[in-house]
Amino acid sequence: MDHLEQLIVANWKMHKTAAETREHIKRLRPLSYNTTVEIWLAVPYTSIAAAAQTAENSPIQIGAQNMSDLAAGALTGEISPIMLIEAGAAFVIIGHSERRRIFKEDDEMINRKVKLALRSDLEVILCIGETREERLAQNTVFILKSQLEKGLQGVHKEQIGKIAIAYEPVWAIGSQEPATQEDVEEIHTLCKNFISSGWDIPFEKVRVIYGGSVTSTNAKDFLTLPVVNGLLVGGASLDVQSFAEIIHQAEMIQ
Ligand code: PGA
Repeated sequence: MDHLEQLIVANWKMHKTAAETREHIKRLRPLSYNTTVEIWLAVPYTSIAAAAQTAENSPIQIGAQNMSDLAAGALTGEISPIMLIEAGAAFVIIGHSERRRIFKEDDEMINRKVKLALRSDLEVILCIGETREERLAQNTVFILKSQLEKGLQGVHKEQIGKIAIAYEPVWAIGSQEPATQEDVEEIHTLCKNFISSGWDIPFEKVRVIYGGSVTSTNAKDFLTLPVVNGLLVGGASLDVQSFAEIIHQAEMIQ
């Protein structure tokens, strides 16, 4: 599948019960029919089945926000890709900065997750981003290249089409301080060049989305940039109206 439509991903984090999920998707569903924008919802594990049932026969795709780096085993509290798929997930977010920072996931673990997800036939959103300290020390490019290189190590050329990179500067997440258009343009170009030359893929086929304090007001500032293929939206995705407005903005630009 070629993924060059705008991709708008909701990351609900630890919000919404299964009942709330059903209500939310019932309201979102009608908006998903007449759009070419791809709408993906990364919901809590316990809401995946309810979300997948409520979104059935609509273009909305349901996914998870994390998964184990192993297919099975004595790993109390973990969840495997096959379990996610059975519940109705089609994609998984890997390497979100909250996983890296709070749960101490390193690039090697993230790489194992990326490869396992792809082998299991889940599409992947691989998050990368620098912290404020790394940016102030002018290490942004080095850090991001290293996250890409380590996170994607061993990924085959024919699998790259199943991956979207999400550039999410850590300081921009939940801070009401989004990156500037200039930063996003520079970093998305870097990601596309890195993957395009590393895997011999046309530049425009590399999918890179932006995340970090995206709102219905600023979404178009990013979506108008040709190197932006979509958005990863946290806080503003929890409200149907504001998420619908972001989808609408993407539709206008497409
Ligand atoms: P935010 O979160 O939109 O609330 O900043 C984005 C994310 O963490 O994916």
